[in-house]
Amino acid sequence: MPTFPENFVWGTATAAYQVEGAWNEDGRGPSIWDTFSHTPGLVAGGDTGDVACDHYHRLEEDLDILSALGVGAYRFSISWPRVRPNGTANRPGLDFYERLVDGLLTRGIAPVATLYHWDLPQELEDADGWANRDTAYRFAEYAALMGETIGDRVRTWITLNEPWCSAYLGYASGVHAPGRTEPAAALAAVHHLNLGHGLAVQALRAVVDPAAQMSVTLNLHHVRGVSEADADAVRQVDALANRAFLGPMLEGAYPRDLIADTASVTDWSFVRDGDEATACQPLDVLGVNYYNPTLVRRWDGSSDRATADGHQDGAASPWIACENVEFMPQPGPYTEMGWNIDETGLTELLLRLHRDYPAMPTMITENGAAFADVVTPDGRVHDERRVDYLHRHLTAVAEAISAGADVRGYFVWSLMDNFEWAHGYAKRFGIVRVEPGTLERVWKDSAHWYRDVVASGKLPG
Ligand code: FCB
Repeated sequence: MPTFPENFVWGTATAAYQVEGAWNEDGRGPSIWDTFSHTPGLVAGGDTGDVACDHYHRLEEDLDILSALGVGAYRFSISWPRVRPNGTANRPGLDFYERLVDGLLTRGIAPVATLYHWDLPQELEDADGWANRDTAYRFAEYAALMGETIGDRVRTWITLNEPWCSAYLGYASGVHAPGRTEPAAALAAVHHLNLGHGLAVQALRAVVDPAAQMSVTLNLHHVRGVSEADADAVRQVDALANRAFLGPMLEGAYPRDLIADTASVTDWSFVRDGDEATACQPLDVLGVNYYNPTLVRRWDGSSDRATADGHQDGAASPWIACENVEFMPQPGPYTEMGWNIDETGLTELLLRLHRDYPAMPTMITENGAAFADVVTPDGRVHDERRVDYLHRHLTAVAEAISAGADVRGYFVWSLMDNFEWAHGYAKRFGIVRVEPGTLERVWKDSAHWYRDVVASGKLPG
């Protein structure tokens, strides 16, 4: 039976824009996701995060759910425009996160705070967003403000969530806010996110509890080739997706092959002397989000080119300078996102990280599945496919651990159904259901199952 280390951290995760609502209350400024979701046609069903799960007003109830689940940690994100609209500290916004952190600590739950889960203040996007170097410095100022406010109580800080999505979906394919389709700007965004990460770690370390752990969450792609002949396509996608972040953040340098592959798009002159060293701050743990693997092959140039990368077809591709790569459909079963279920990719990814960065522990900061849940006449949600997904992926984590990987924890995405970005509320990832309309919280079977796993520290069966 798969087992986990004694001090393994069990948690759940959410993000501010996806759950909070209260988009224009108590001095919160607009973010790029407010602008994006309020633009007709960009989000499925015209959904917005205006109300979301109303977590801002239902904080105590949600904290009690976390407590009843028995989790040891809760990963949430801070809404930058709520706490620092227009570059000025907003006390009511800061108070909300103080209440959240204190409410967690009172219940014996460790707060894991993500600074940036995609909700850039709109005024910074008006000044060119992450394509502008200045945004990295604004991010560090915001990090310092949060460190000063809750840095005495938060022991785990995550600077960025999935900068891959911020840069490539936000600025290249345009399916996420701010919805731009400018490949050169997207690569500048990659760099300014890396730089902002390093500056934020420095700013936090200057003010927070010295024992605090520093981290970043990456959605690393586990890339496989259709055949041996596709090794170079795998290398190319790995550079753009993974090493564009791992390189500067963990090794202090961009991979040479990435610079060469993208030479037709940019000369990377936005990287200044010393930037890569700044991006490479000592980290205590690397956050990994995993949902499914990626399958590629070299395109023959004539057949219909497959683009089944799982990231929605937008006006343009997020895969800059990868016109000669195909993203292949993968065998099922699939989740409601159309993503294939393949937990072997998670074991392989964790072992690759262990091999490449043996001194860097990891934690799974997101893993989970969307399914079209139904409430049965008994008032319950029998989401056995989600239970099966979580069971498989936790088994995969345990396998990686037994093969030597130092994995410190696991956070289910998500605590509750929420605003799934451009998919709106149609895609439901929660282990707790949020009833449309009433926003009533209903435990799905997966929540009961996860509570038992957390309590025993092992998987059933
Ligand atoms: C990740 C995001 C998270 C959620 C899941 C399904 O890319 O970090 O907010 O949308 O996907």
